[in-house]
Amino acid sequence: MTVLARSVAQLRSAIADLPGSVGLVPTMGALHEGHARLVSLAAQENTSVVVSVFVNPLQFTDLGDCDDFRNYPRDLDADFALLENLGVDVVFAPTTDEMYPGGLPQVWVRSGEMGERLEGASRPGHFDGVTTVVAKLFQLTQPDRAYFGEKDAQQLAIIQRMVADLNFPVAVRPVPIIRGEDGLAESSRNQHLSAEAREQALVLPHVLAELQERAAAGVPLDIKGARRMLRTAEGVELDHLEVIDPATLLPVEEVGEGALAVAAIHVGGTRLIDNVRLVPGA
Ligand code: PAJ
Repeated sequence: MTVLARSVAQLRSAIADLPGSVGLVPTMGALHEGHARLVSLAAQENTSVVVSVFVNPLQFTDLGDCDDFRNYPRDLDADFALLENLGVDVVFAPTTDEMYPGGLPQVWVRSGEMGERLEGASRPGHFDGVTTVVAKLFQLTQPDRAYFGEKDAQQLAIIQRMVADLNFPVAVRPVPIIRGEDGLAESSRNQHLSAEAREQALVLPHVLAELQERAAAGVPLDIKGARRMLRTAEGVELDHLEVIDPATLLPVEEVGEGALAVAAIHVGGTRLIDNVRLVPGA
């Protein structure tokens, strides 16, 4: 049976009863195949699975006083039904008051320079909101393992660094990107895309896949050309395209083993991110 915990007290009593190891999957809901993959992996590797569903105002512009937060897709009934089907033990879906009873927290977890680059440059404070809420979720759930998607490569790197820097006793488990049949990475924000915008957005995975092919073939990447393709694509606005070291998030000149090409675009008023691992050919 899946327990729905709406308060910290309910979560505490639900996890007190869980046997064995606990896997935590933090989400903001509007669940899709990408989230489902994280949950499946958590179920494979742990005795019990806890999924949090919380649209965290701290990580949005103006601490949630923005349309992106107000319009973020929310459907707890559908999310709960999906998680019940996946055999999840506890769904933690707190209200904002329950998570932040004293209003905005005074004490935050700072994500530092890693949180200021790439996504953080366009969304100041975003990653401090992420590290703060994830630290709270770790404290509340005390998981053995926590699951994060490689789709949010910067978030994953920052969480890994937070766990190392603050000695959280949790193993961070990265999960590969899940894509739709057309190649677009699954995202809760895809719900905002019209059919036309979705079509236009496909230039993002296409350009990234081409970079991946170039790296594998050992030909120069031509990042400028790739940026130009995104910048000039119909209906698309380029935010950034960079080749980085996935652990430090710093730009790399050479495509060593495991460099990442990361990009963000705007399509039809929706911001989308994606990345691919670049593996050099022989
Ligand atoms: P959310 O966007 O709901 O994503 C929850 C988790 O699902 C993240 O770890 C994300 O990387 C992963 N995910 C999303 N789309 C994916 C895809 N297509 N393939 C694989 N994994 C995917 O990320 C957040 O929520 C929040 O910032 C959170 C960590 C919950 C803190 O509020």
